[in-house]
Amino acid sequence: MSRSNPSSLTTSRPQAPSPAPFRDALAAAVAAAPTGIVVSDPNQPDCPIVYANPAFFRITGYRPEEVIGRNCRFLQGAGTDPAHVHAIRRAIAERRSLDIELVNYRRDGTRFVNELHISPVFGPDGALRHFFGIQHDVTAREKLARANQRARRQAERASAEKSDFLAFMSHEIRTPMNGVMGTVSLLLDTALDAEQRAYAETARRCGETLLSTVNEMLDLSRIEAGRLSLEAIPFDLAKPVTEVLDLLGPAAAEKGLRLSASIDPTLPARVVGDPQRLRQVLLNLADNAVKFTSAGGVGIRVERAEAEGRIRFAVADTGIGIAPEVQRRLFQRFAQGAADTARRFGGSGLGLMICKQLVGLMGGKVALTSTPGKGSVFAFDIALDPVAESGRPPATLLPTPEAIAARVPAGARGRILLAEDGEANQLVAAAILRKAGYAVDLARDGEEAVGAARTAAYDLVLMDVRMPRMDGFAATAAIRAMPGAAGRVPILAMTASAMAGDREKCIAAGMDGHLPKPMDRAGLLAAVAEVLDARPRRPRALAPEEEPHGAPTLLDHTTLGELRSAVGPGRLPRLIGVFAEETRARLARLAATTDLMAIEEEAHGLKSAAGTFGAAALRETAAALEAACVAGEARTALALRDTLPALVERSLAAYPVRLSGSG
Ligand SMILES: Cc1cc2nc3c(=O)[nH]c(=O)nc-3n(C[C@H](O)[C@H](O)[C@H](O)COP(=O)(O)O)c2cc1C
Repeated sequence: MSRSNPSSLTTSRPQAPSPAPFRDALAAAVAAAPTGIVVSDPNQPDCPIVYANPAFFRITGYRPEEVIGRNCRFLQGAGTDPAHVHAIRRAIAERRSLDIELVNYRRDGTRFVNELHISPVFGPDGALRHFFGIQHDVTAREKLARANQRARRQAERASAEKSDFLAFMSHEIRTPMNGVMGTVSLLLDTALDAEQRAYAETARRCGETLLSTVNEMLDLSRIEAGRLSLEAIPFDLAKPVTEVLDLLGPAAAEKGLRLSASIDPTLPARVVGDPQRLRQVLLNLADNAVKFTSAGGVGIRVERAEAEGRIRFAVADTGIGIAPEVQRRLFQRFAQGAADTARRFGGSGLGLMICKQLVGLMGGKVALTSTPGKGSVFAFDIALDPVAESGRPPATLLPTPEAIAARVPAGARGRILLAEDGEANQLVAAAILRKAGYAVDLARDGEEAVGAARTAAYDLVLMDVRMPRMDGFAATAAIRAMPGAAGRVPILAMTASAMAGDREKCIAAGMDGHLPKPMDRAGLLAAVAEVLDARPRRPRALAPEEEPHGAPTLLDHTTLGELRSAVGPGRLPRLIGVFAEETRARLARLAATTDLMAIEEEAHGLKSAAGTFGAAALRETAAALEAACVAGEARTALALRDTLPALVERSLAAYPVRLSGSG
């Protein structure tokens, strides 16, 4: 007789009867069990309970005489899911066992969660004899699970709120910092003695450190809140690498370190991925390497990974190396090893955490091999799909922002509307742009920006997103709704808020791009030059019938003010007199010809002079005239030419000085 089959009660298969000694033991065990155990008789009408153990009475609160002879459904109530009842009914009809969790009620009406197991019991002849059920009150467990779930949801909400708070705070910090950094960089452009320069340099360095910490904090909180999504765009594989070399070159040179990179030439030149985040990781690793290396060099290597289709990036240095016990803690946030060294070399120590998370998002893992005193290699491999080549020239290096800015010929500088409510930021951005040769009009909020865009023709609008009265999104919508060229003016958002999706929001609002704040001078000029370089050469917003809506700002008083301070207030009236004379002579020459080349020549000269003297509308029309000539659009050119005499007179009349002569 098998000991493992002691009773027909314990199995759902037909069994031989169990020996008597076990029956007593089994009965005692059932009576002592902490879970409810009932036996019901499916051969009687409505399958009544024929036995229930003490635990069943304890759990349900019923007395034996209230239970025996009844179907177990008396435990069910309003909260019991009918689907659960149906499942039990089917299992009984199909004579099989079932595990199910359902809501039941005690005699006093209190609810409990019953983890129920039922099984059929067959006789040796194969006939169904009984069903037994085991009831387990799991209310406490369920309560705990629900509490856990609630806590998790709460934590998720709190984390999202924290990340919103961080984004908000970072905006609040970055906006004034933009002003501070811009002002310091303007200050550094002025004549300073050595001591003053040293103080200003220190202020700039501290500002840069603060900004990078704010950015790191923001990145990390966004990654943790799952709000950072990676881009999948085609890019030159070499680009992020050369950008890192460009950025770190000066620091490495200062320390006398070799900084180099090698890219396996058999790798695809263009791949699909997130170049900016890849650059961020490489920059962070290489920046650390430069910091921790005092002799030798730092090298970035890009090569085929062992795994098919993956590319390995390695940053190796000949630095101080990292002890094994520190290596283990290095990627943990605020880890002592990381924090100590981070403090010693500057930085918040969040950088490596961010690298680890970003590479994780890209499907890779950062690995570190290091020998103290010899150096370290940080490496990771990620899958970057190649872009199909189609007679494309080989990967080119990205020109620096200065190089982009330098490409714009001085005469081609355009007119920019700067909508920004922060006075310091406005001042800084305007000064940078004007210094670079652009004409800049200012608006303090969205409404002013819309008004300005309606009355004057701009080559570009720089639009702060957060502004009083009307924000940048609404102002963009209003401008886009304008007819003609005014509605098509390129608009770049400037925003210090850096949450994922901001760029998309700006694009969806009809903007052409997005400039994160704070912006450095080179970044601002590069972005502006990029838009103005890309614009088609066309007479913008200045078709003759559109001109009257103009009364565009006749005089740019800022330019005039700058001119006044450059030449001295006493000399300005005389200079303007010269300009007036020269311009009237030009008008006479223009009236005498229909030759587009001759007109273009005059228009070019007029544009330049009008720009110098802040005759904004005149400069604009002259520029349009020049463009029309270049494009060979004779009718537009002649129509524009004919608007000039009146415009010249209105412009000259607007100068706050008495002019002699009437030409
Ligand atoms: C042995 C056995 C134990 C059962 N124990 C319970 C129980 O603890 N709680 C419950 O709600 N239903 C229990 N049931 C299910 C009900 O007795 C009944 O089968 C179910 O409500 C489906 O049938 P009905 O649609 O006729 O009500 C048990 C059934 C059997 C056979």
